[in-house]
Amino acid sequence: MTCKFVASHDDGCAWITGASSGIGRMLALSLANDGWQVAVTARSSDKLEALKSEAEGLAGGIHVYPGDVSDTAAMKSICNQIAGDLSGVALLVANAGVYYPQDGLNGNADEWRNTVEVNLTGTINVLLPVIDAMKAVGKGQIAIVSSVAGYRGLPTSAAYGATKAGLINMAEALKFDLDKANIRIQVINPGFVDTPATADNPFPMPYLISPETAASEIRKGLADAKAFEIAFPKTFVRQLKLLRILPYWLYFKLVGRSTGWDKS
Ligand SMILES: NC(=O)c1ccc[n+]([C@@H]2O[C@H](COP(=O)([O-])OP(=O)(O)OC[C@H]3O[C@@H](n4cnc5c(N)ncnc54)[C@H](OP(=O)(O)O)[C@@H]3O)[C@@H](O)[C@H]2O)c1
Repeated sequence: MTCKFVASHDDGCAWITGASSGIGRMLALSLANDGWQVAVTARSSDKLEALKSEAEGLAGGIHVYPGDVSDTAAMKSICNQIAGDLSGVALLVANAGVYYPQDGLNGNADEWRNTVEVNLTGTINVLLPVIDAMKAVGKGQIAIVSSVAGYRGLPTSAAYGATKAGLINMAEALKFDLDKANIRIQVINPGFVDTPATADNPFPMPYLISPETAASEIRKGLADAKAFEIAFPKTFVRQLKLLRILPYWLYFKLVGRSTGWDKS
């Protein structure tokens, strides 16, 4: 049975990781504007405190829980603190992520490792305690922020794309179990969003959108009881999904040519 639970602010609070900038920050403001109490996590506590101040006067509020998502014990402890302070997490958006463009011929071991530790292990670190807590109350909604870069391998994305493909697969696999516990899991696959993460991208970014537009698309998807995947912008997503079904020989040729990577 598919779970159709859509969390509201009457069910508890929202917890957003990676909320100190970009997509997470805009999403936190959007939810607080609509009356949610939003717990926010990232390493930069100064930026989280600034976000809290910015949200003063909104219908809901921002509550600061600084931390590094790659720290398993810290994430468990924050989950417990949120449950005590804000009556439990009804909506988790596991959004914290890093992107380092990789030159496949000169890989940076620290960047590869950090990508896995934040994007994959960091997501697992918030997922597991939240699933335990939601299981106990019998409902919940979880959205994992992956990327369209998880659909297939792309230039510069050997580390990033591997973690994002892993997150899509993880969300699909979890859905079989979480549905049974009335916990709705979704995966969010944005295209290019204009944030600090993409500011130094060494290639043109088609269909680039603002963090405000990304937050609005995510809100629509979270409210759609039937949506498993929240992917945007639609035209770009359609093109990438078409590429996904191409045979390898055609895929490599088309992507190499359209990105200019075959000549660089
Ligand atoms: N921008 C895009 O085009 C795009 C496209 C597809 C998917 N995404 C995904 O969307 C999510 C948000 O990205 P964004 O574009 O908004 O990037 P961003 O502005 O750089 O935000 C990344 C957030 O993750 C946090 N973070 C990084 N490492 C962390 C750690 N170890 N522990 C806790 N928090 C950590 C950062 O905060 P601190 O540095 O303060 O810790 C920041 O709040 C990421 O998962 C990204 O992969 C982005």
